[in-house]
Parts: sequence; structure tokens; C-alpha cells
Amino acid sequence: MSIAYLNGEYLPLEEARISPLDRGFLFGDGIYEVIPYYNGKSVGLMPHINRMINGLSIIEIKNSHTADEWKTLLDDLIAKNSDLGENLGVYVHISRGTDTKRNHAYPENVEPTIFCFAFGIKSPEPADRTKVHQYSLISTEDLRWQRCHIKSTALLGNVIHYQEGHSSGNDEALLYNAKGELTEGSSCNAFIVKDGVISTPIQDNQILPGITRRIIIDSIKADGSLKLEERTVTMDEVRNADEVWVTSSSKEIAPVTKLDGKPVGNGEVGEIWEKAFNIYTAAKFDY
Ligand code: PDD
Repeated sequence: MSIAYLNGEYLPLEEARISPLDRGFLFGDGIYEVIPYYNGKSVGLMPHINRMINGLSIIEIKNSHTADEWKTLLDDLIAKNSDLGENLGVYVHISRGTDTKRNHAYPENVEPTIFCFAFGIKSPEPADRTKVHQYSLISTEDLRWQRCHIKSTALLGNVIHYQEGHSSGNDEALLYNAKGELTEGSSCNAFIVKDGVISTPIQDNQILPGITRRIIIDSIKADGSLKLEERTVTMDEVRNADEVWVTSSSKEIAPVTKLDGKPVGNGEVGEIWEKAFNIYTAAKFDY
């Protein structure tokens, strides 16, 4: 049974209730995180918490917990849910709170709604080019908003793009802006490899500052054996890349071998993927 946390109380997930006047429900007015724990060890816990605190501050939602208090709360929730499996994800959702009416303006004196629950996640993929799940993607113009750096619970733009990929039998949708430049996936960041050099779009308002992306960049730079650049990446470059990867807390580094029905590179999982995945795997619990 999944134990959830709602506004200071632990309770069975199916008993958790919020008001329909909650602004998270009415407006998608909130911030969220998804954090993986493998055998009780988190990946990027403090960076996730810091991104969340930063997101709350950007949209002016009151944050009543220090980063250390958040860590204790989430670690406790994971411990309470150990019967769900060895590998767990925790979802954290903070909405602006419950108002007395529907009104666009931020209400004064409402307490944010804090909701967290844990769920089983799959074991990490093997670092084996022949066994890892190969992703198949479509590409489509990024029609979300101009504030993609905020991890907002208002995900309809992402959901519509994800569904475009899903309903056409693919795993994800890769997004590009009006200038034909790669932004990210509908629920993940993106990397390409050409002639041994890894490239990923720069961090700006067009993409989420992914924690997995950050760990990959930092661990690859610390290792020093692979070349990595943060720069503008065009869709022409994506289509001519030797390798494409999508990354997130749940996917880790997923190799993409098909894009818009055509093979990426030679259509097989690349050797740079394997090297990068090994570097990331060796470092991920340090973040
Ligand atoms: N998605 N970009 C978008 C649009 C995302 O939704 C996500 C994560 C990422 C990767 O971020 P991170 O590495 O911090 O997980 C990039 C989460 C997992 C989700 O919505 O379920």
C-alpha cells in the first residue's frame, strides 16, 4: 500500500483528498518534482530540492521548509514505502493552495498544498548496447509556453506533445522551436553525438534545467575522456547525428535509434552512449 504525505500527515494514497478549489486543480498553479531512489539511495536529491525551492520562489509560492527539512520529509516517505519495492520514485507537488473562489490573482493568506507519494520504478537499464531499450521518437514543433525552465504542474502542453508521440506508436516527442533548433523532449532533455562530440542545447527558458542533464554534463566533464558542448543544436544536426539520447530521472540516459521512422546514425545504440552511461552510473549517487 502506498503511503502518501498530504499537508503534514501520512496516510494511504487512496485516502488523500484535496478541495476542487485548490489552485493546482483549477489552474495548474504549482511546482513539482520526481526524484528516483535506487535501493534507498537517491539520485540528485539536493539538486531536485533546490530546483523546487527556486521554482516556488519564481512563482511566489510560500515555501515553509528548508532544503534539509525537505530532504528529511522525502527520505521518511521513501522509508515508509519500502514494501513497494527496491527502486522507488517520489513525486512532490506543491500548489499555491485552496482559495474560497475561482480568481486568477494570487490569493493572500492561503497555505500551499503539499502532496507527495512514492511509487515503484523499474531497475536501471543495463549498460549493454544489445539489451537496453531503444527509443523511437517523432519530432514536432515545440508549442508549449515560454517558461519551460519552470517545473510547473501545468503540463498540458507537454502532455499533448507526449501524446503525439505515444498515439503514433513512439516513445516520446522531440521538440524544436520556430527557428528549427532542438529544445528538449516532452518529458526529457536531449543530447546528440556527432563524430565523437556530445552536444546538448544550452540552458535557457526553452528547456527544463534537468537534474539528469546536469549530472551527465558534470560527470562527463569531471571524467574528462569525452567531449561535451552546451550550444544551439539544429534539427538538421539532429537528423544527421550519429547518436541521439533523451534523459530524465526516470529514463536516465535513453538511446534513441529511430526518429520520424528513420534510423538514427547506423540504427544501433552507439558506443558513446555506452561510455557516457557508464560514467553517469558511476557518479549518479554522488549528486
Ligand atoms: N520529467 N524536460 C522535461 C519537459 C521534463 O518533464 C523532464 C522530467 C526533464 C528531465 O528532468 P530531470 O532530469 O530533472 O528528471 C526535462 C519528469 C521525470 C516527469 O515529468 O515525470
